[in-house]
Amino acid sequence: MDEFRKTDISPDEIKSVLEVLDPDGERPRNVITTSGLNLRFGDQQILSGVNMDFPRGTITALIGPTGSGKSTFLRTLNRMNDKVRGFRHEGDVALEGRSIWSSDQDLLDLRRRVGMLFQRPNPFPMSIKDNVVAGAKAHGIAKGKQLDVVAETRLREVGLWDAVKDRLNDSPYRLSGGQQQLLCLARALAVGPEVLLLDEPTSALDPLSTESVERLLRELTPALTLIVVTHNLGQARRVSDNTMFFYEGKLVEHGATNDLFNQPRETNTARYVNGLMG
Ligand SMILES: Nc1ncnc2c1ncn2[C@@H]1O[C@H](COP(=O)(O)OP(=O)(O)OP(=O)(O)O)[C@@H](O)[C@H]1O
Ligand SMILES: [Mg+2]
Repeated sequence: MDEFRKTDISPDEIKSVLEVLDPDGERPRNVITTSGLNLRFGDQQILSGVNMDFPRGTITALIGPTGSGKSTFLRTLNRMNDKVRGFRHEGDVALEGRSIWSSDQDLLDLRRRVGMLFQRPNPFPMSIKDNVVAGAKAHGIAKGKQLDVVAETRLREVGLWDAVKDRLNDSPYRLSGGQQQLLCLARALAVGPEVLLLDEPTSALDPLSTESVERLLRELTPALTLIVVTHNLGQARRVSDNTMFFYEGKLVEHGATNDLFNQPRETNTARYVNGLMG
């Protein structure tokens, strides 16, 4: 923490900000559980009968051919599909034991707890610093000088601080694609999520940026639970603890990543992980 002392914010103030982000308490082992989840757009059944647990502090990779429903599944977990025309769900998604669709579930709070990182970096049209603290400000997590702490802490966390510390008030759009994605990650982290949903987070990045994002994802666990859609099978093997394979509207197989890649139970899983299916 010593490095942060150059600001005139007291350690107590910093602690109080961090406590909001990480309240203590007994928590169930699985952060998210889906049961009998069926997803449809209009008449088209996208996925059926998905029963899955996401253990706290793990990384789960979602793999499968294009159109197999990975993004639809992912976006359901923080109700991003609710407003999409024709979207219907049956079954349930529970966040720490409580349905995400229960009437007392505040949508903003759900999105704070279950954050999202998209394929293409999408910084807001505001300064680099304002990007990082936008959510923290909106959720009342920090204000005034505390926002400087939040910005610095999160930018350091994603390894971007040195690159941007002298241009915090500049536009984010002059950063490289990789740096913009890290900025979006810093923004997502700044609201203290428990779960991060990532939809092909490195597919628009060069290999070096991909490597730094992958390293970061590992460092974010076990504090966070991550669910990552990827077409990059090497990435799934490198970063994830568990893998889910989607194909033709079903969760065909899931399990420990090593097992699923080395001893798949289903023929289609074997074909996919061995590159025999696109
Ligand atoms: N908003 C929508 N309205 C209607 N159908 C949709 C919508 N979004 C997706 N679909 C359909 O749902 C199916 C699953 O799409 P989804 O985007 O979840 O697949 P995916 O596995 O993420 O594919 P990719 O790997 O190409 O990203 C596809 O048939 C797609 O056309
Ligand atoms: Mg997708």
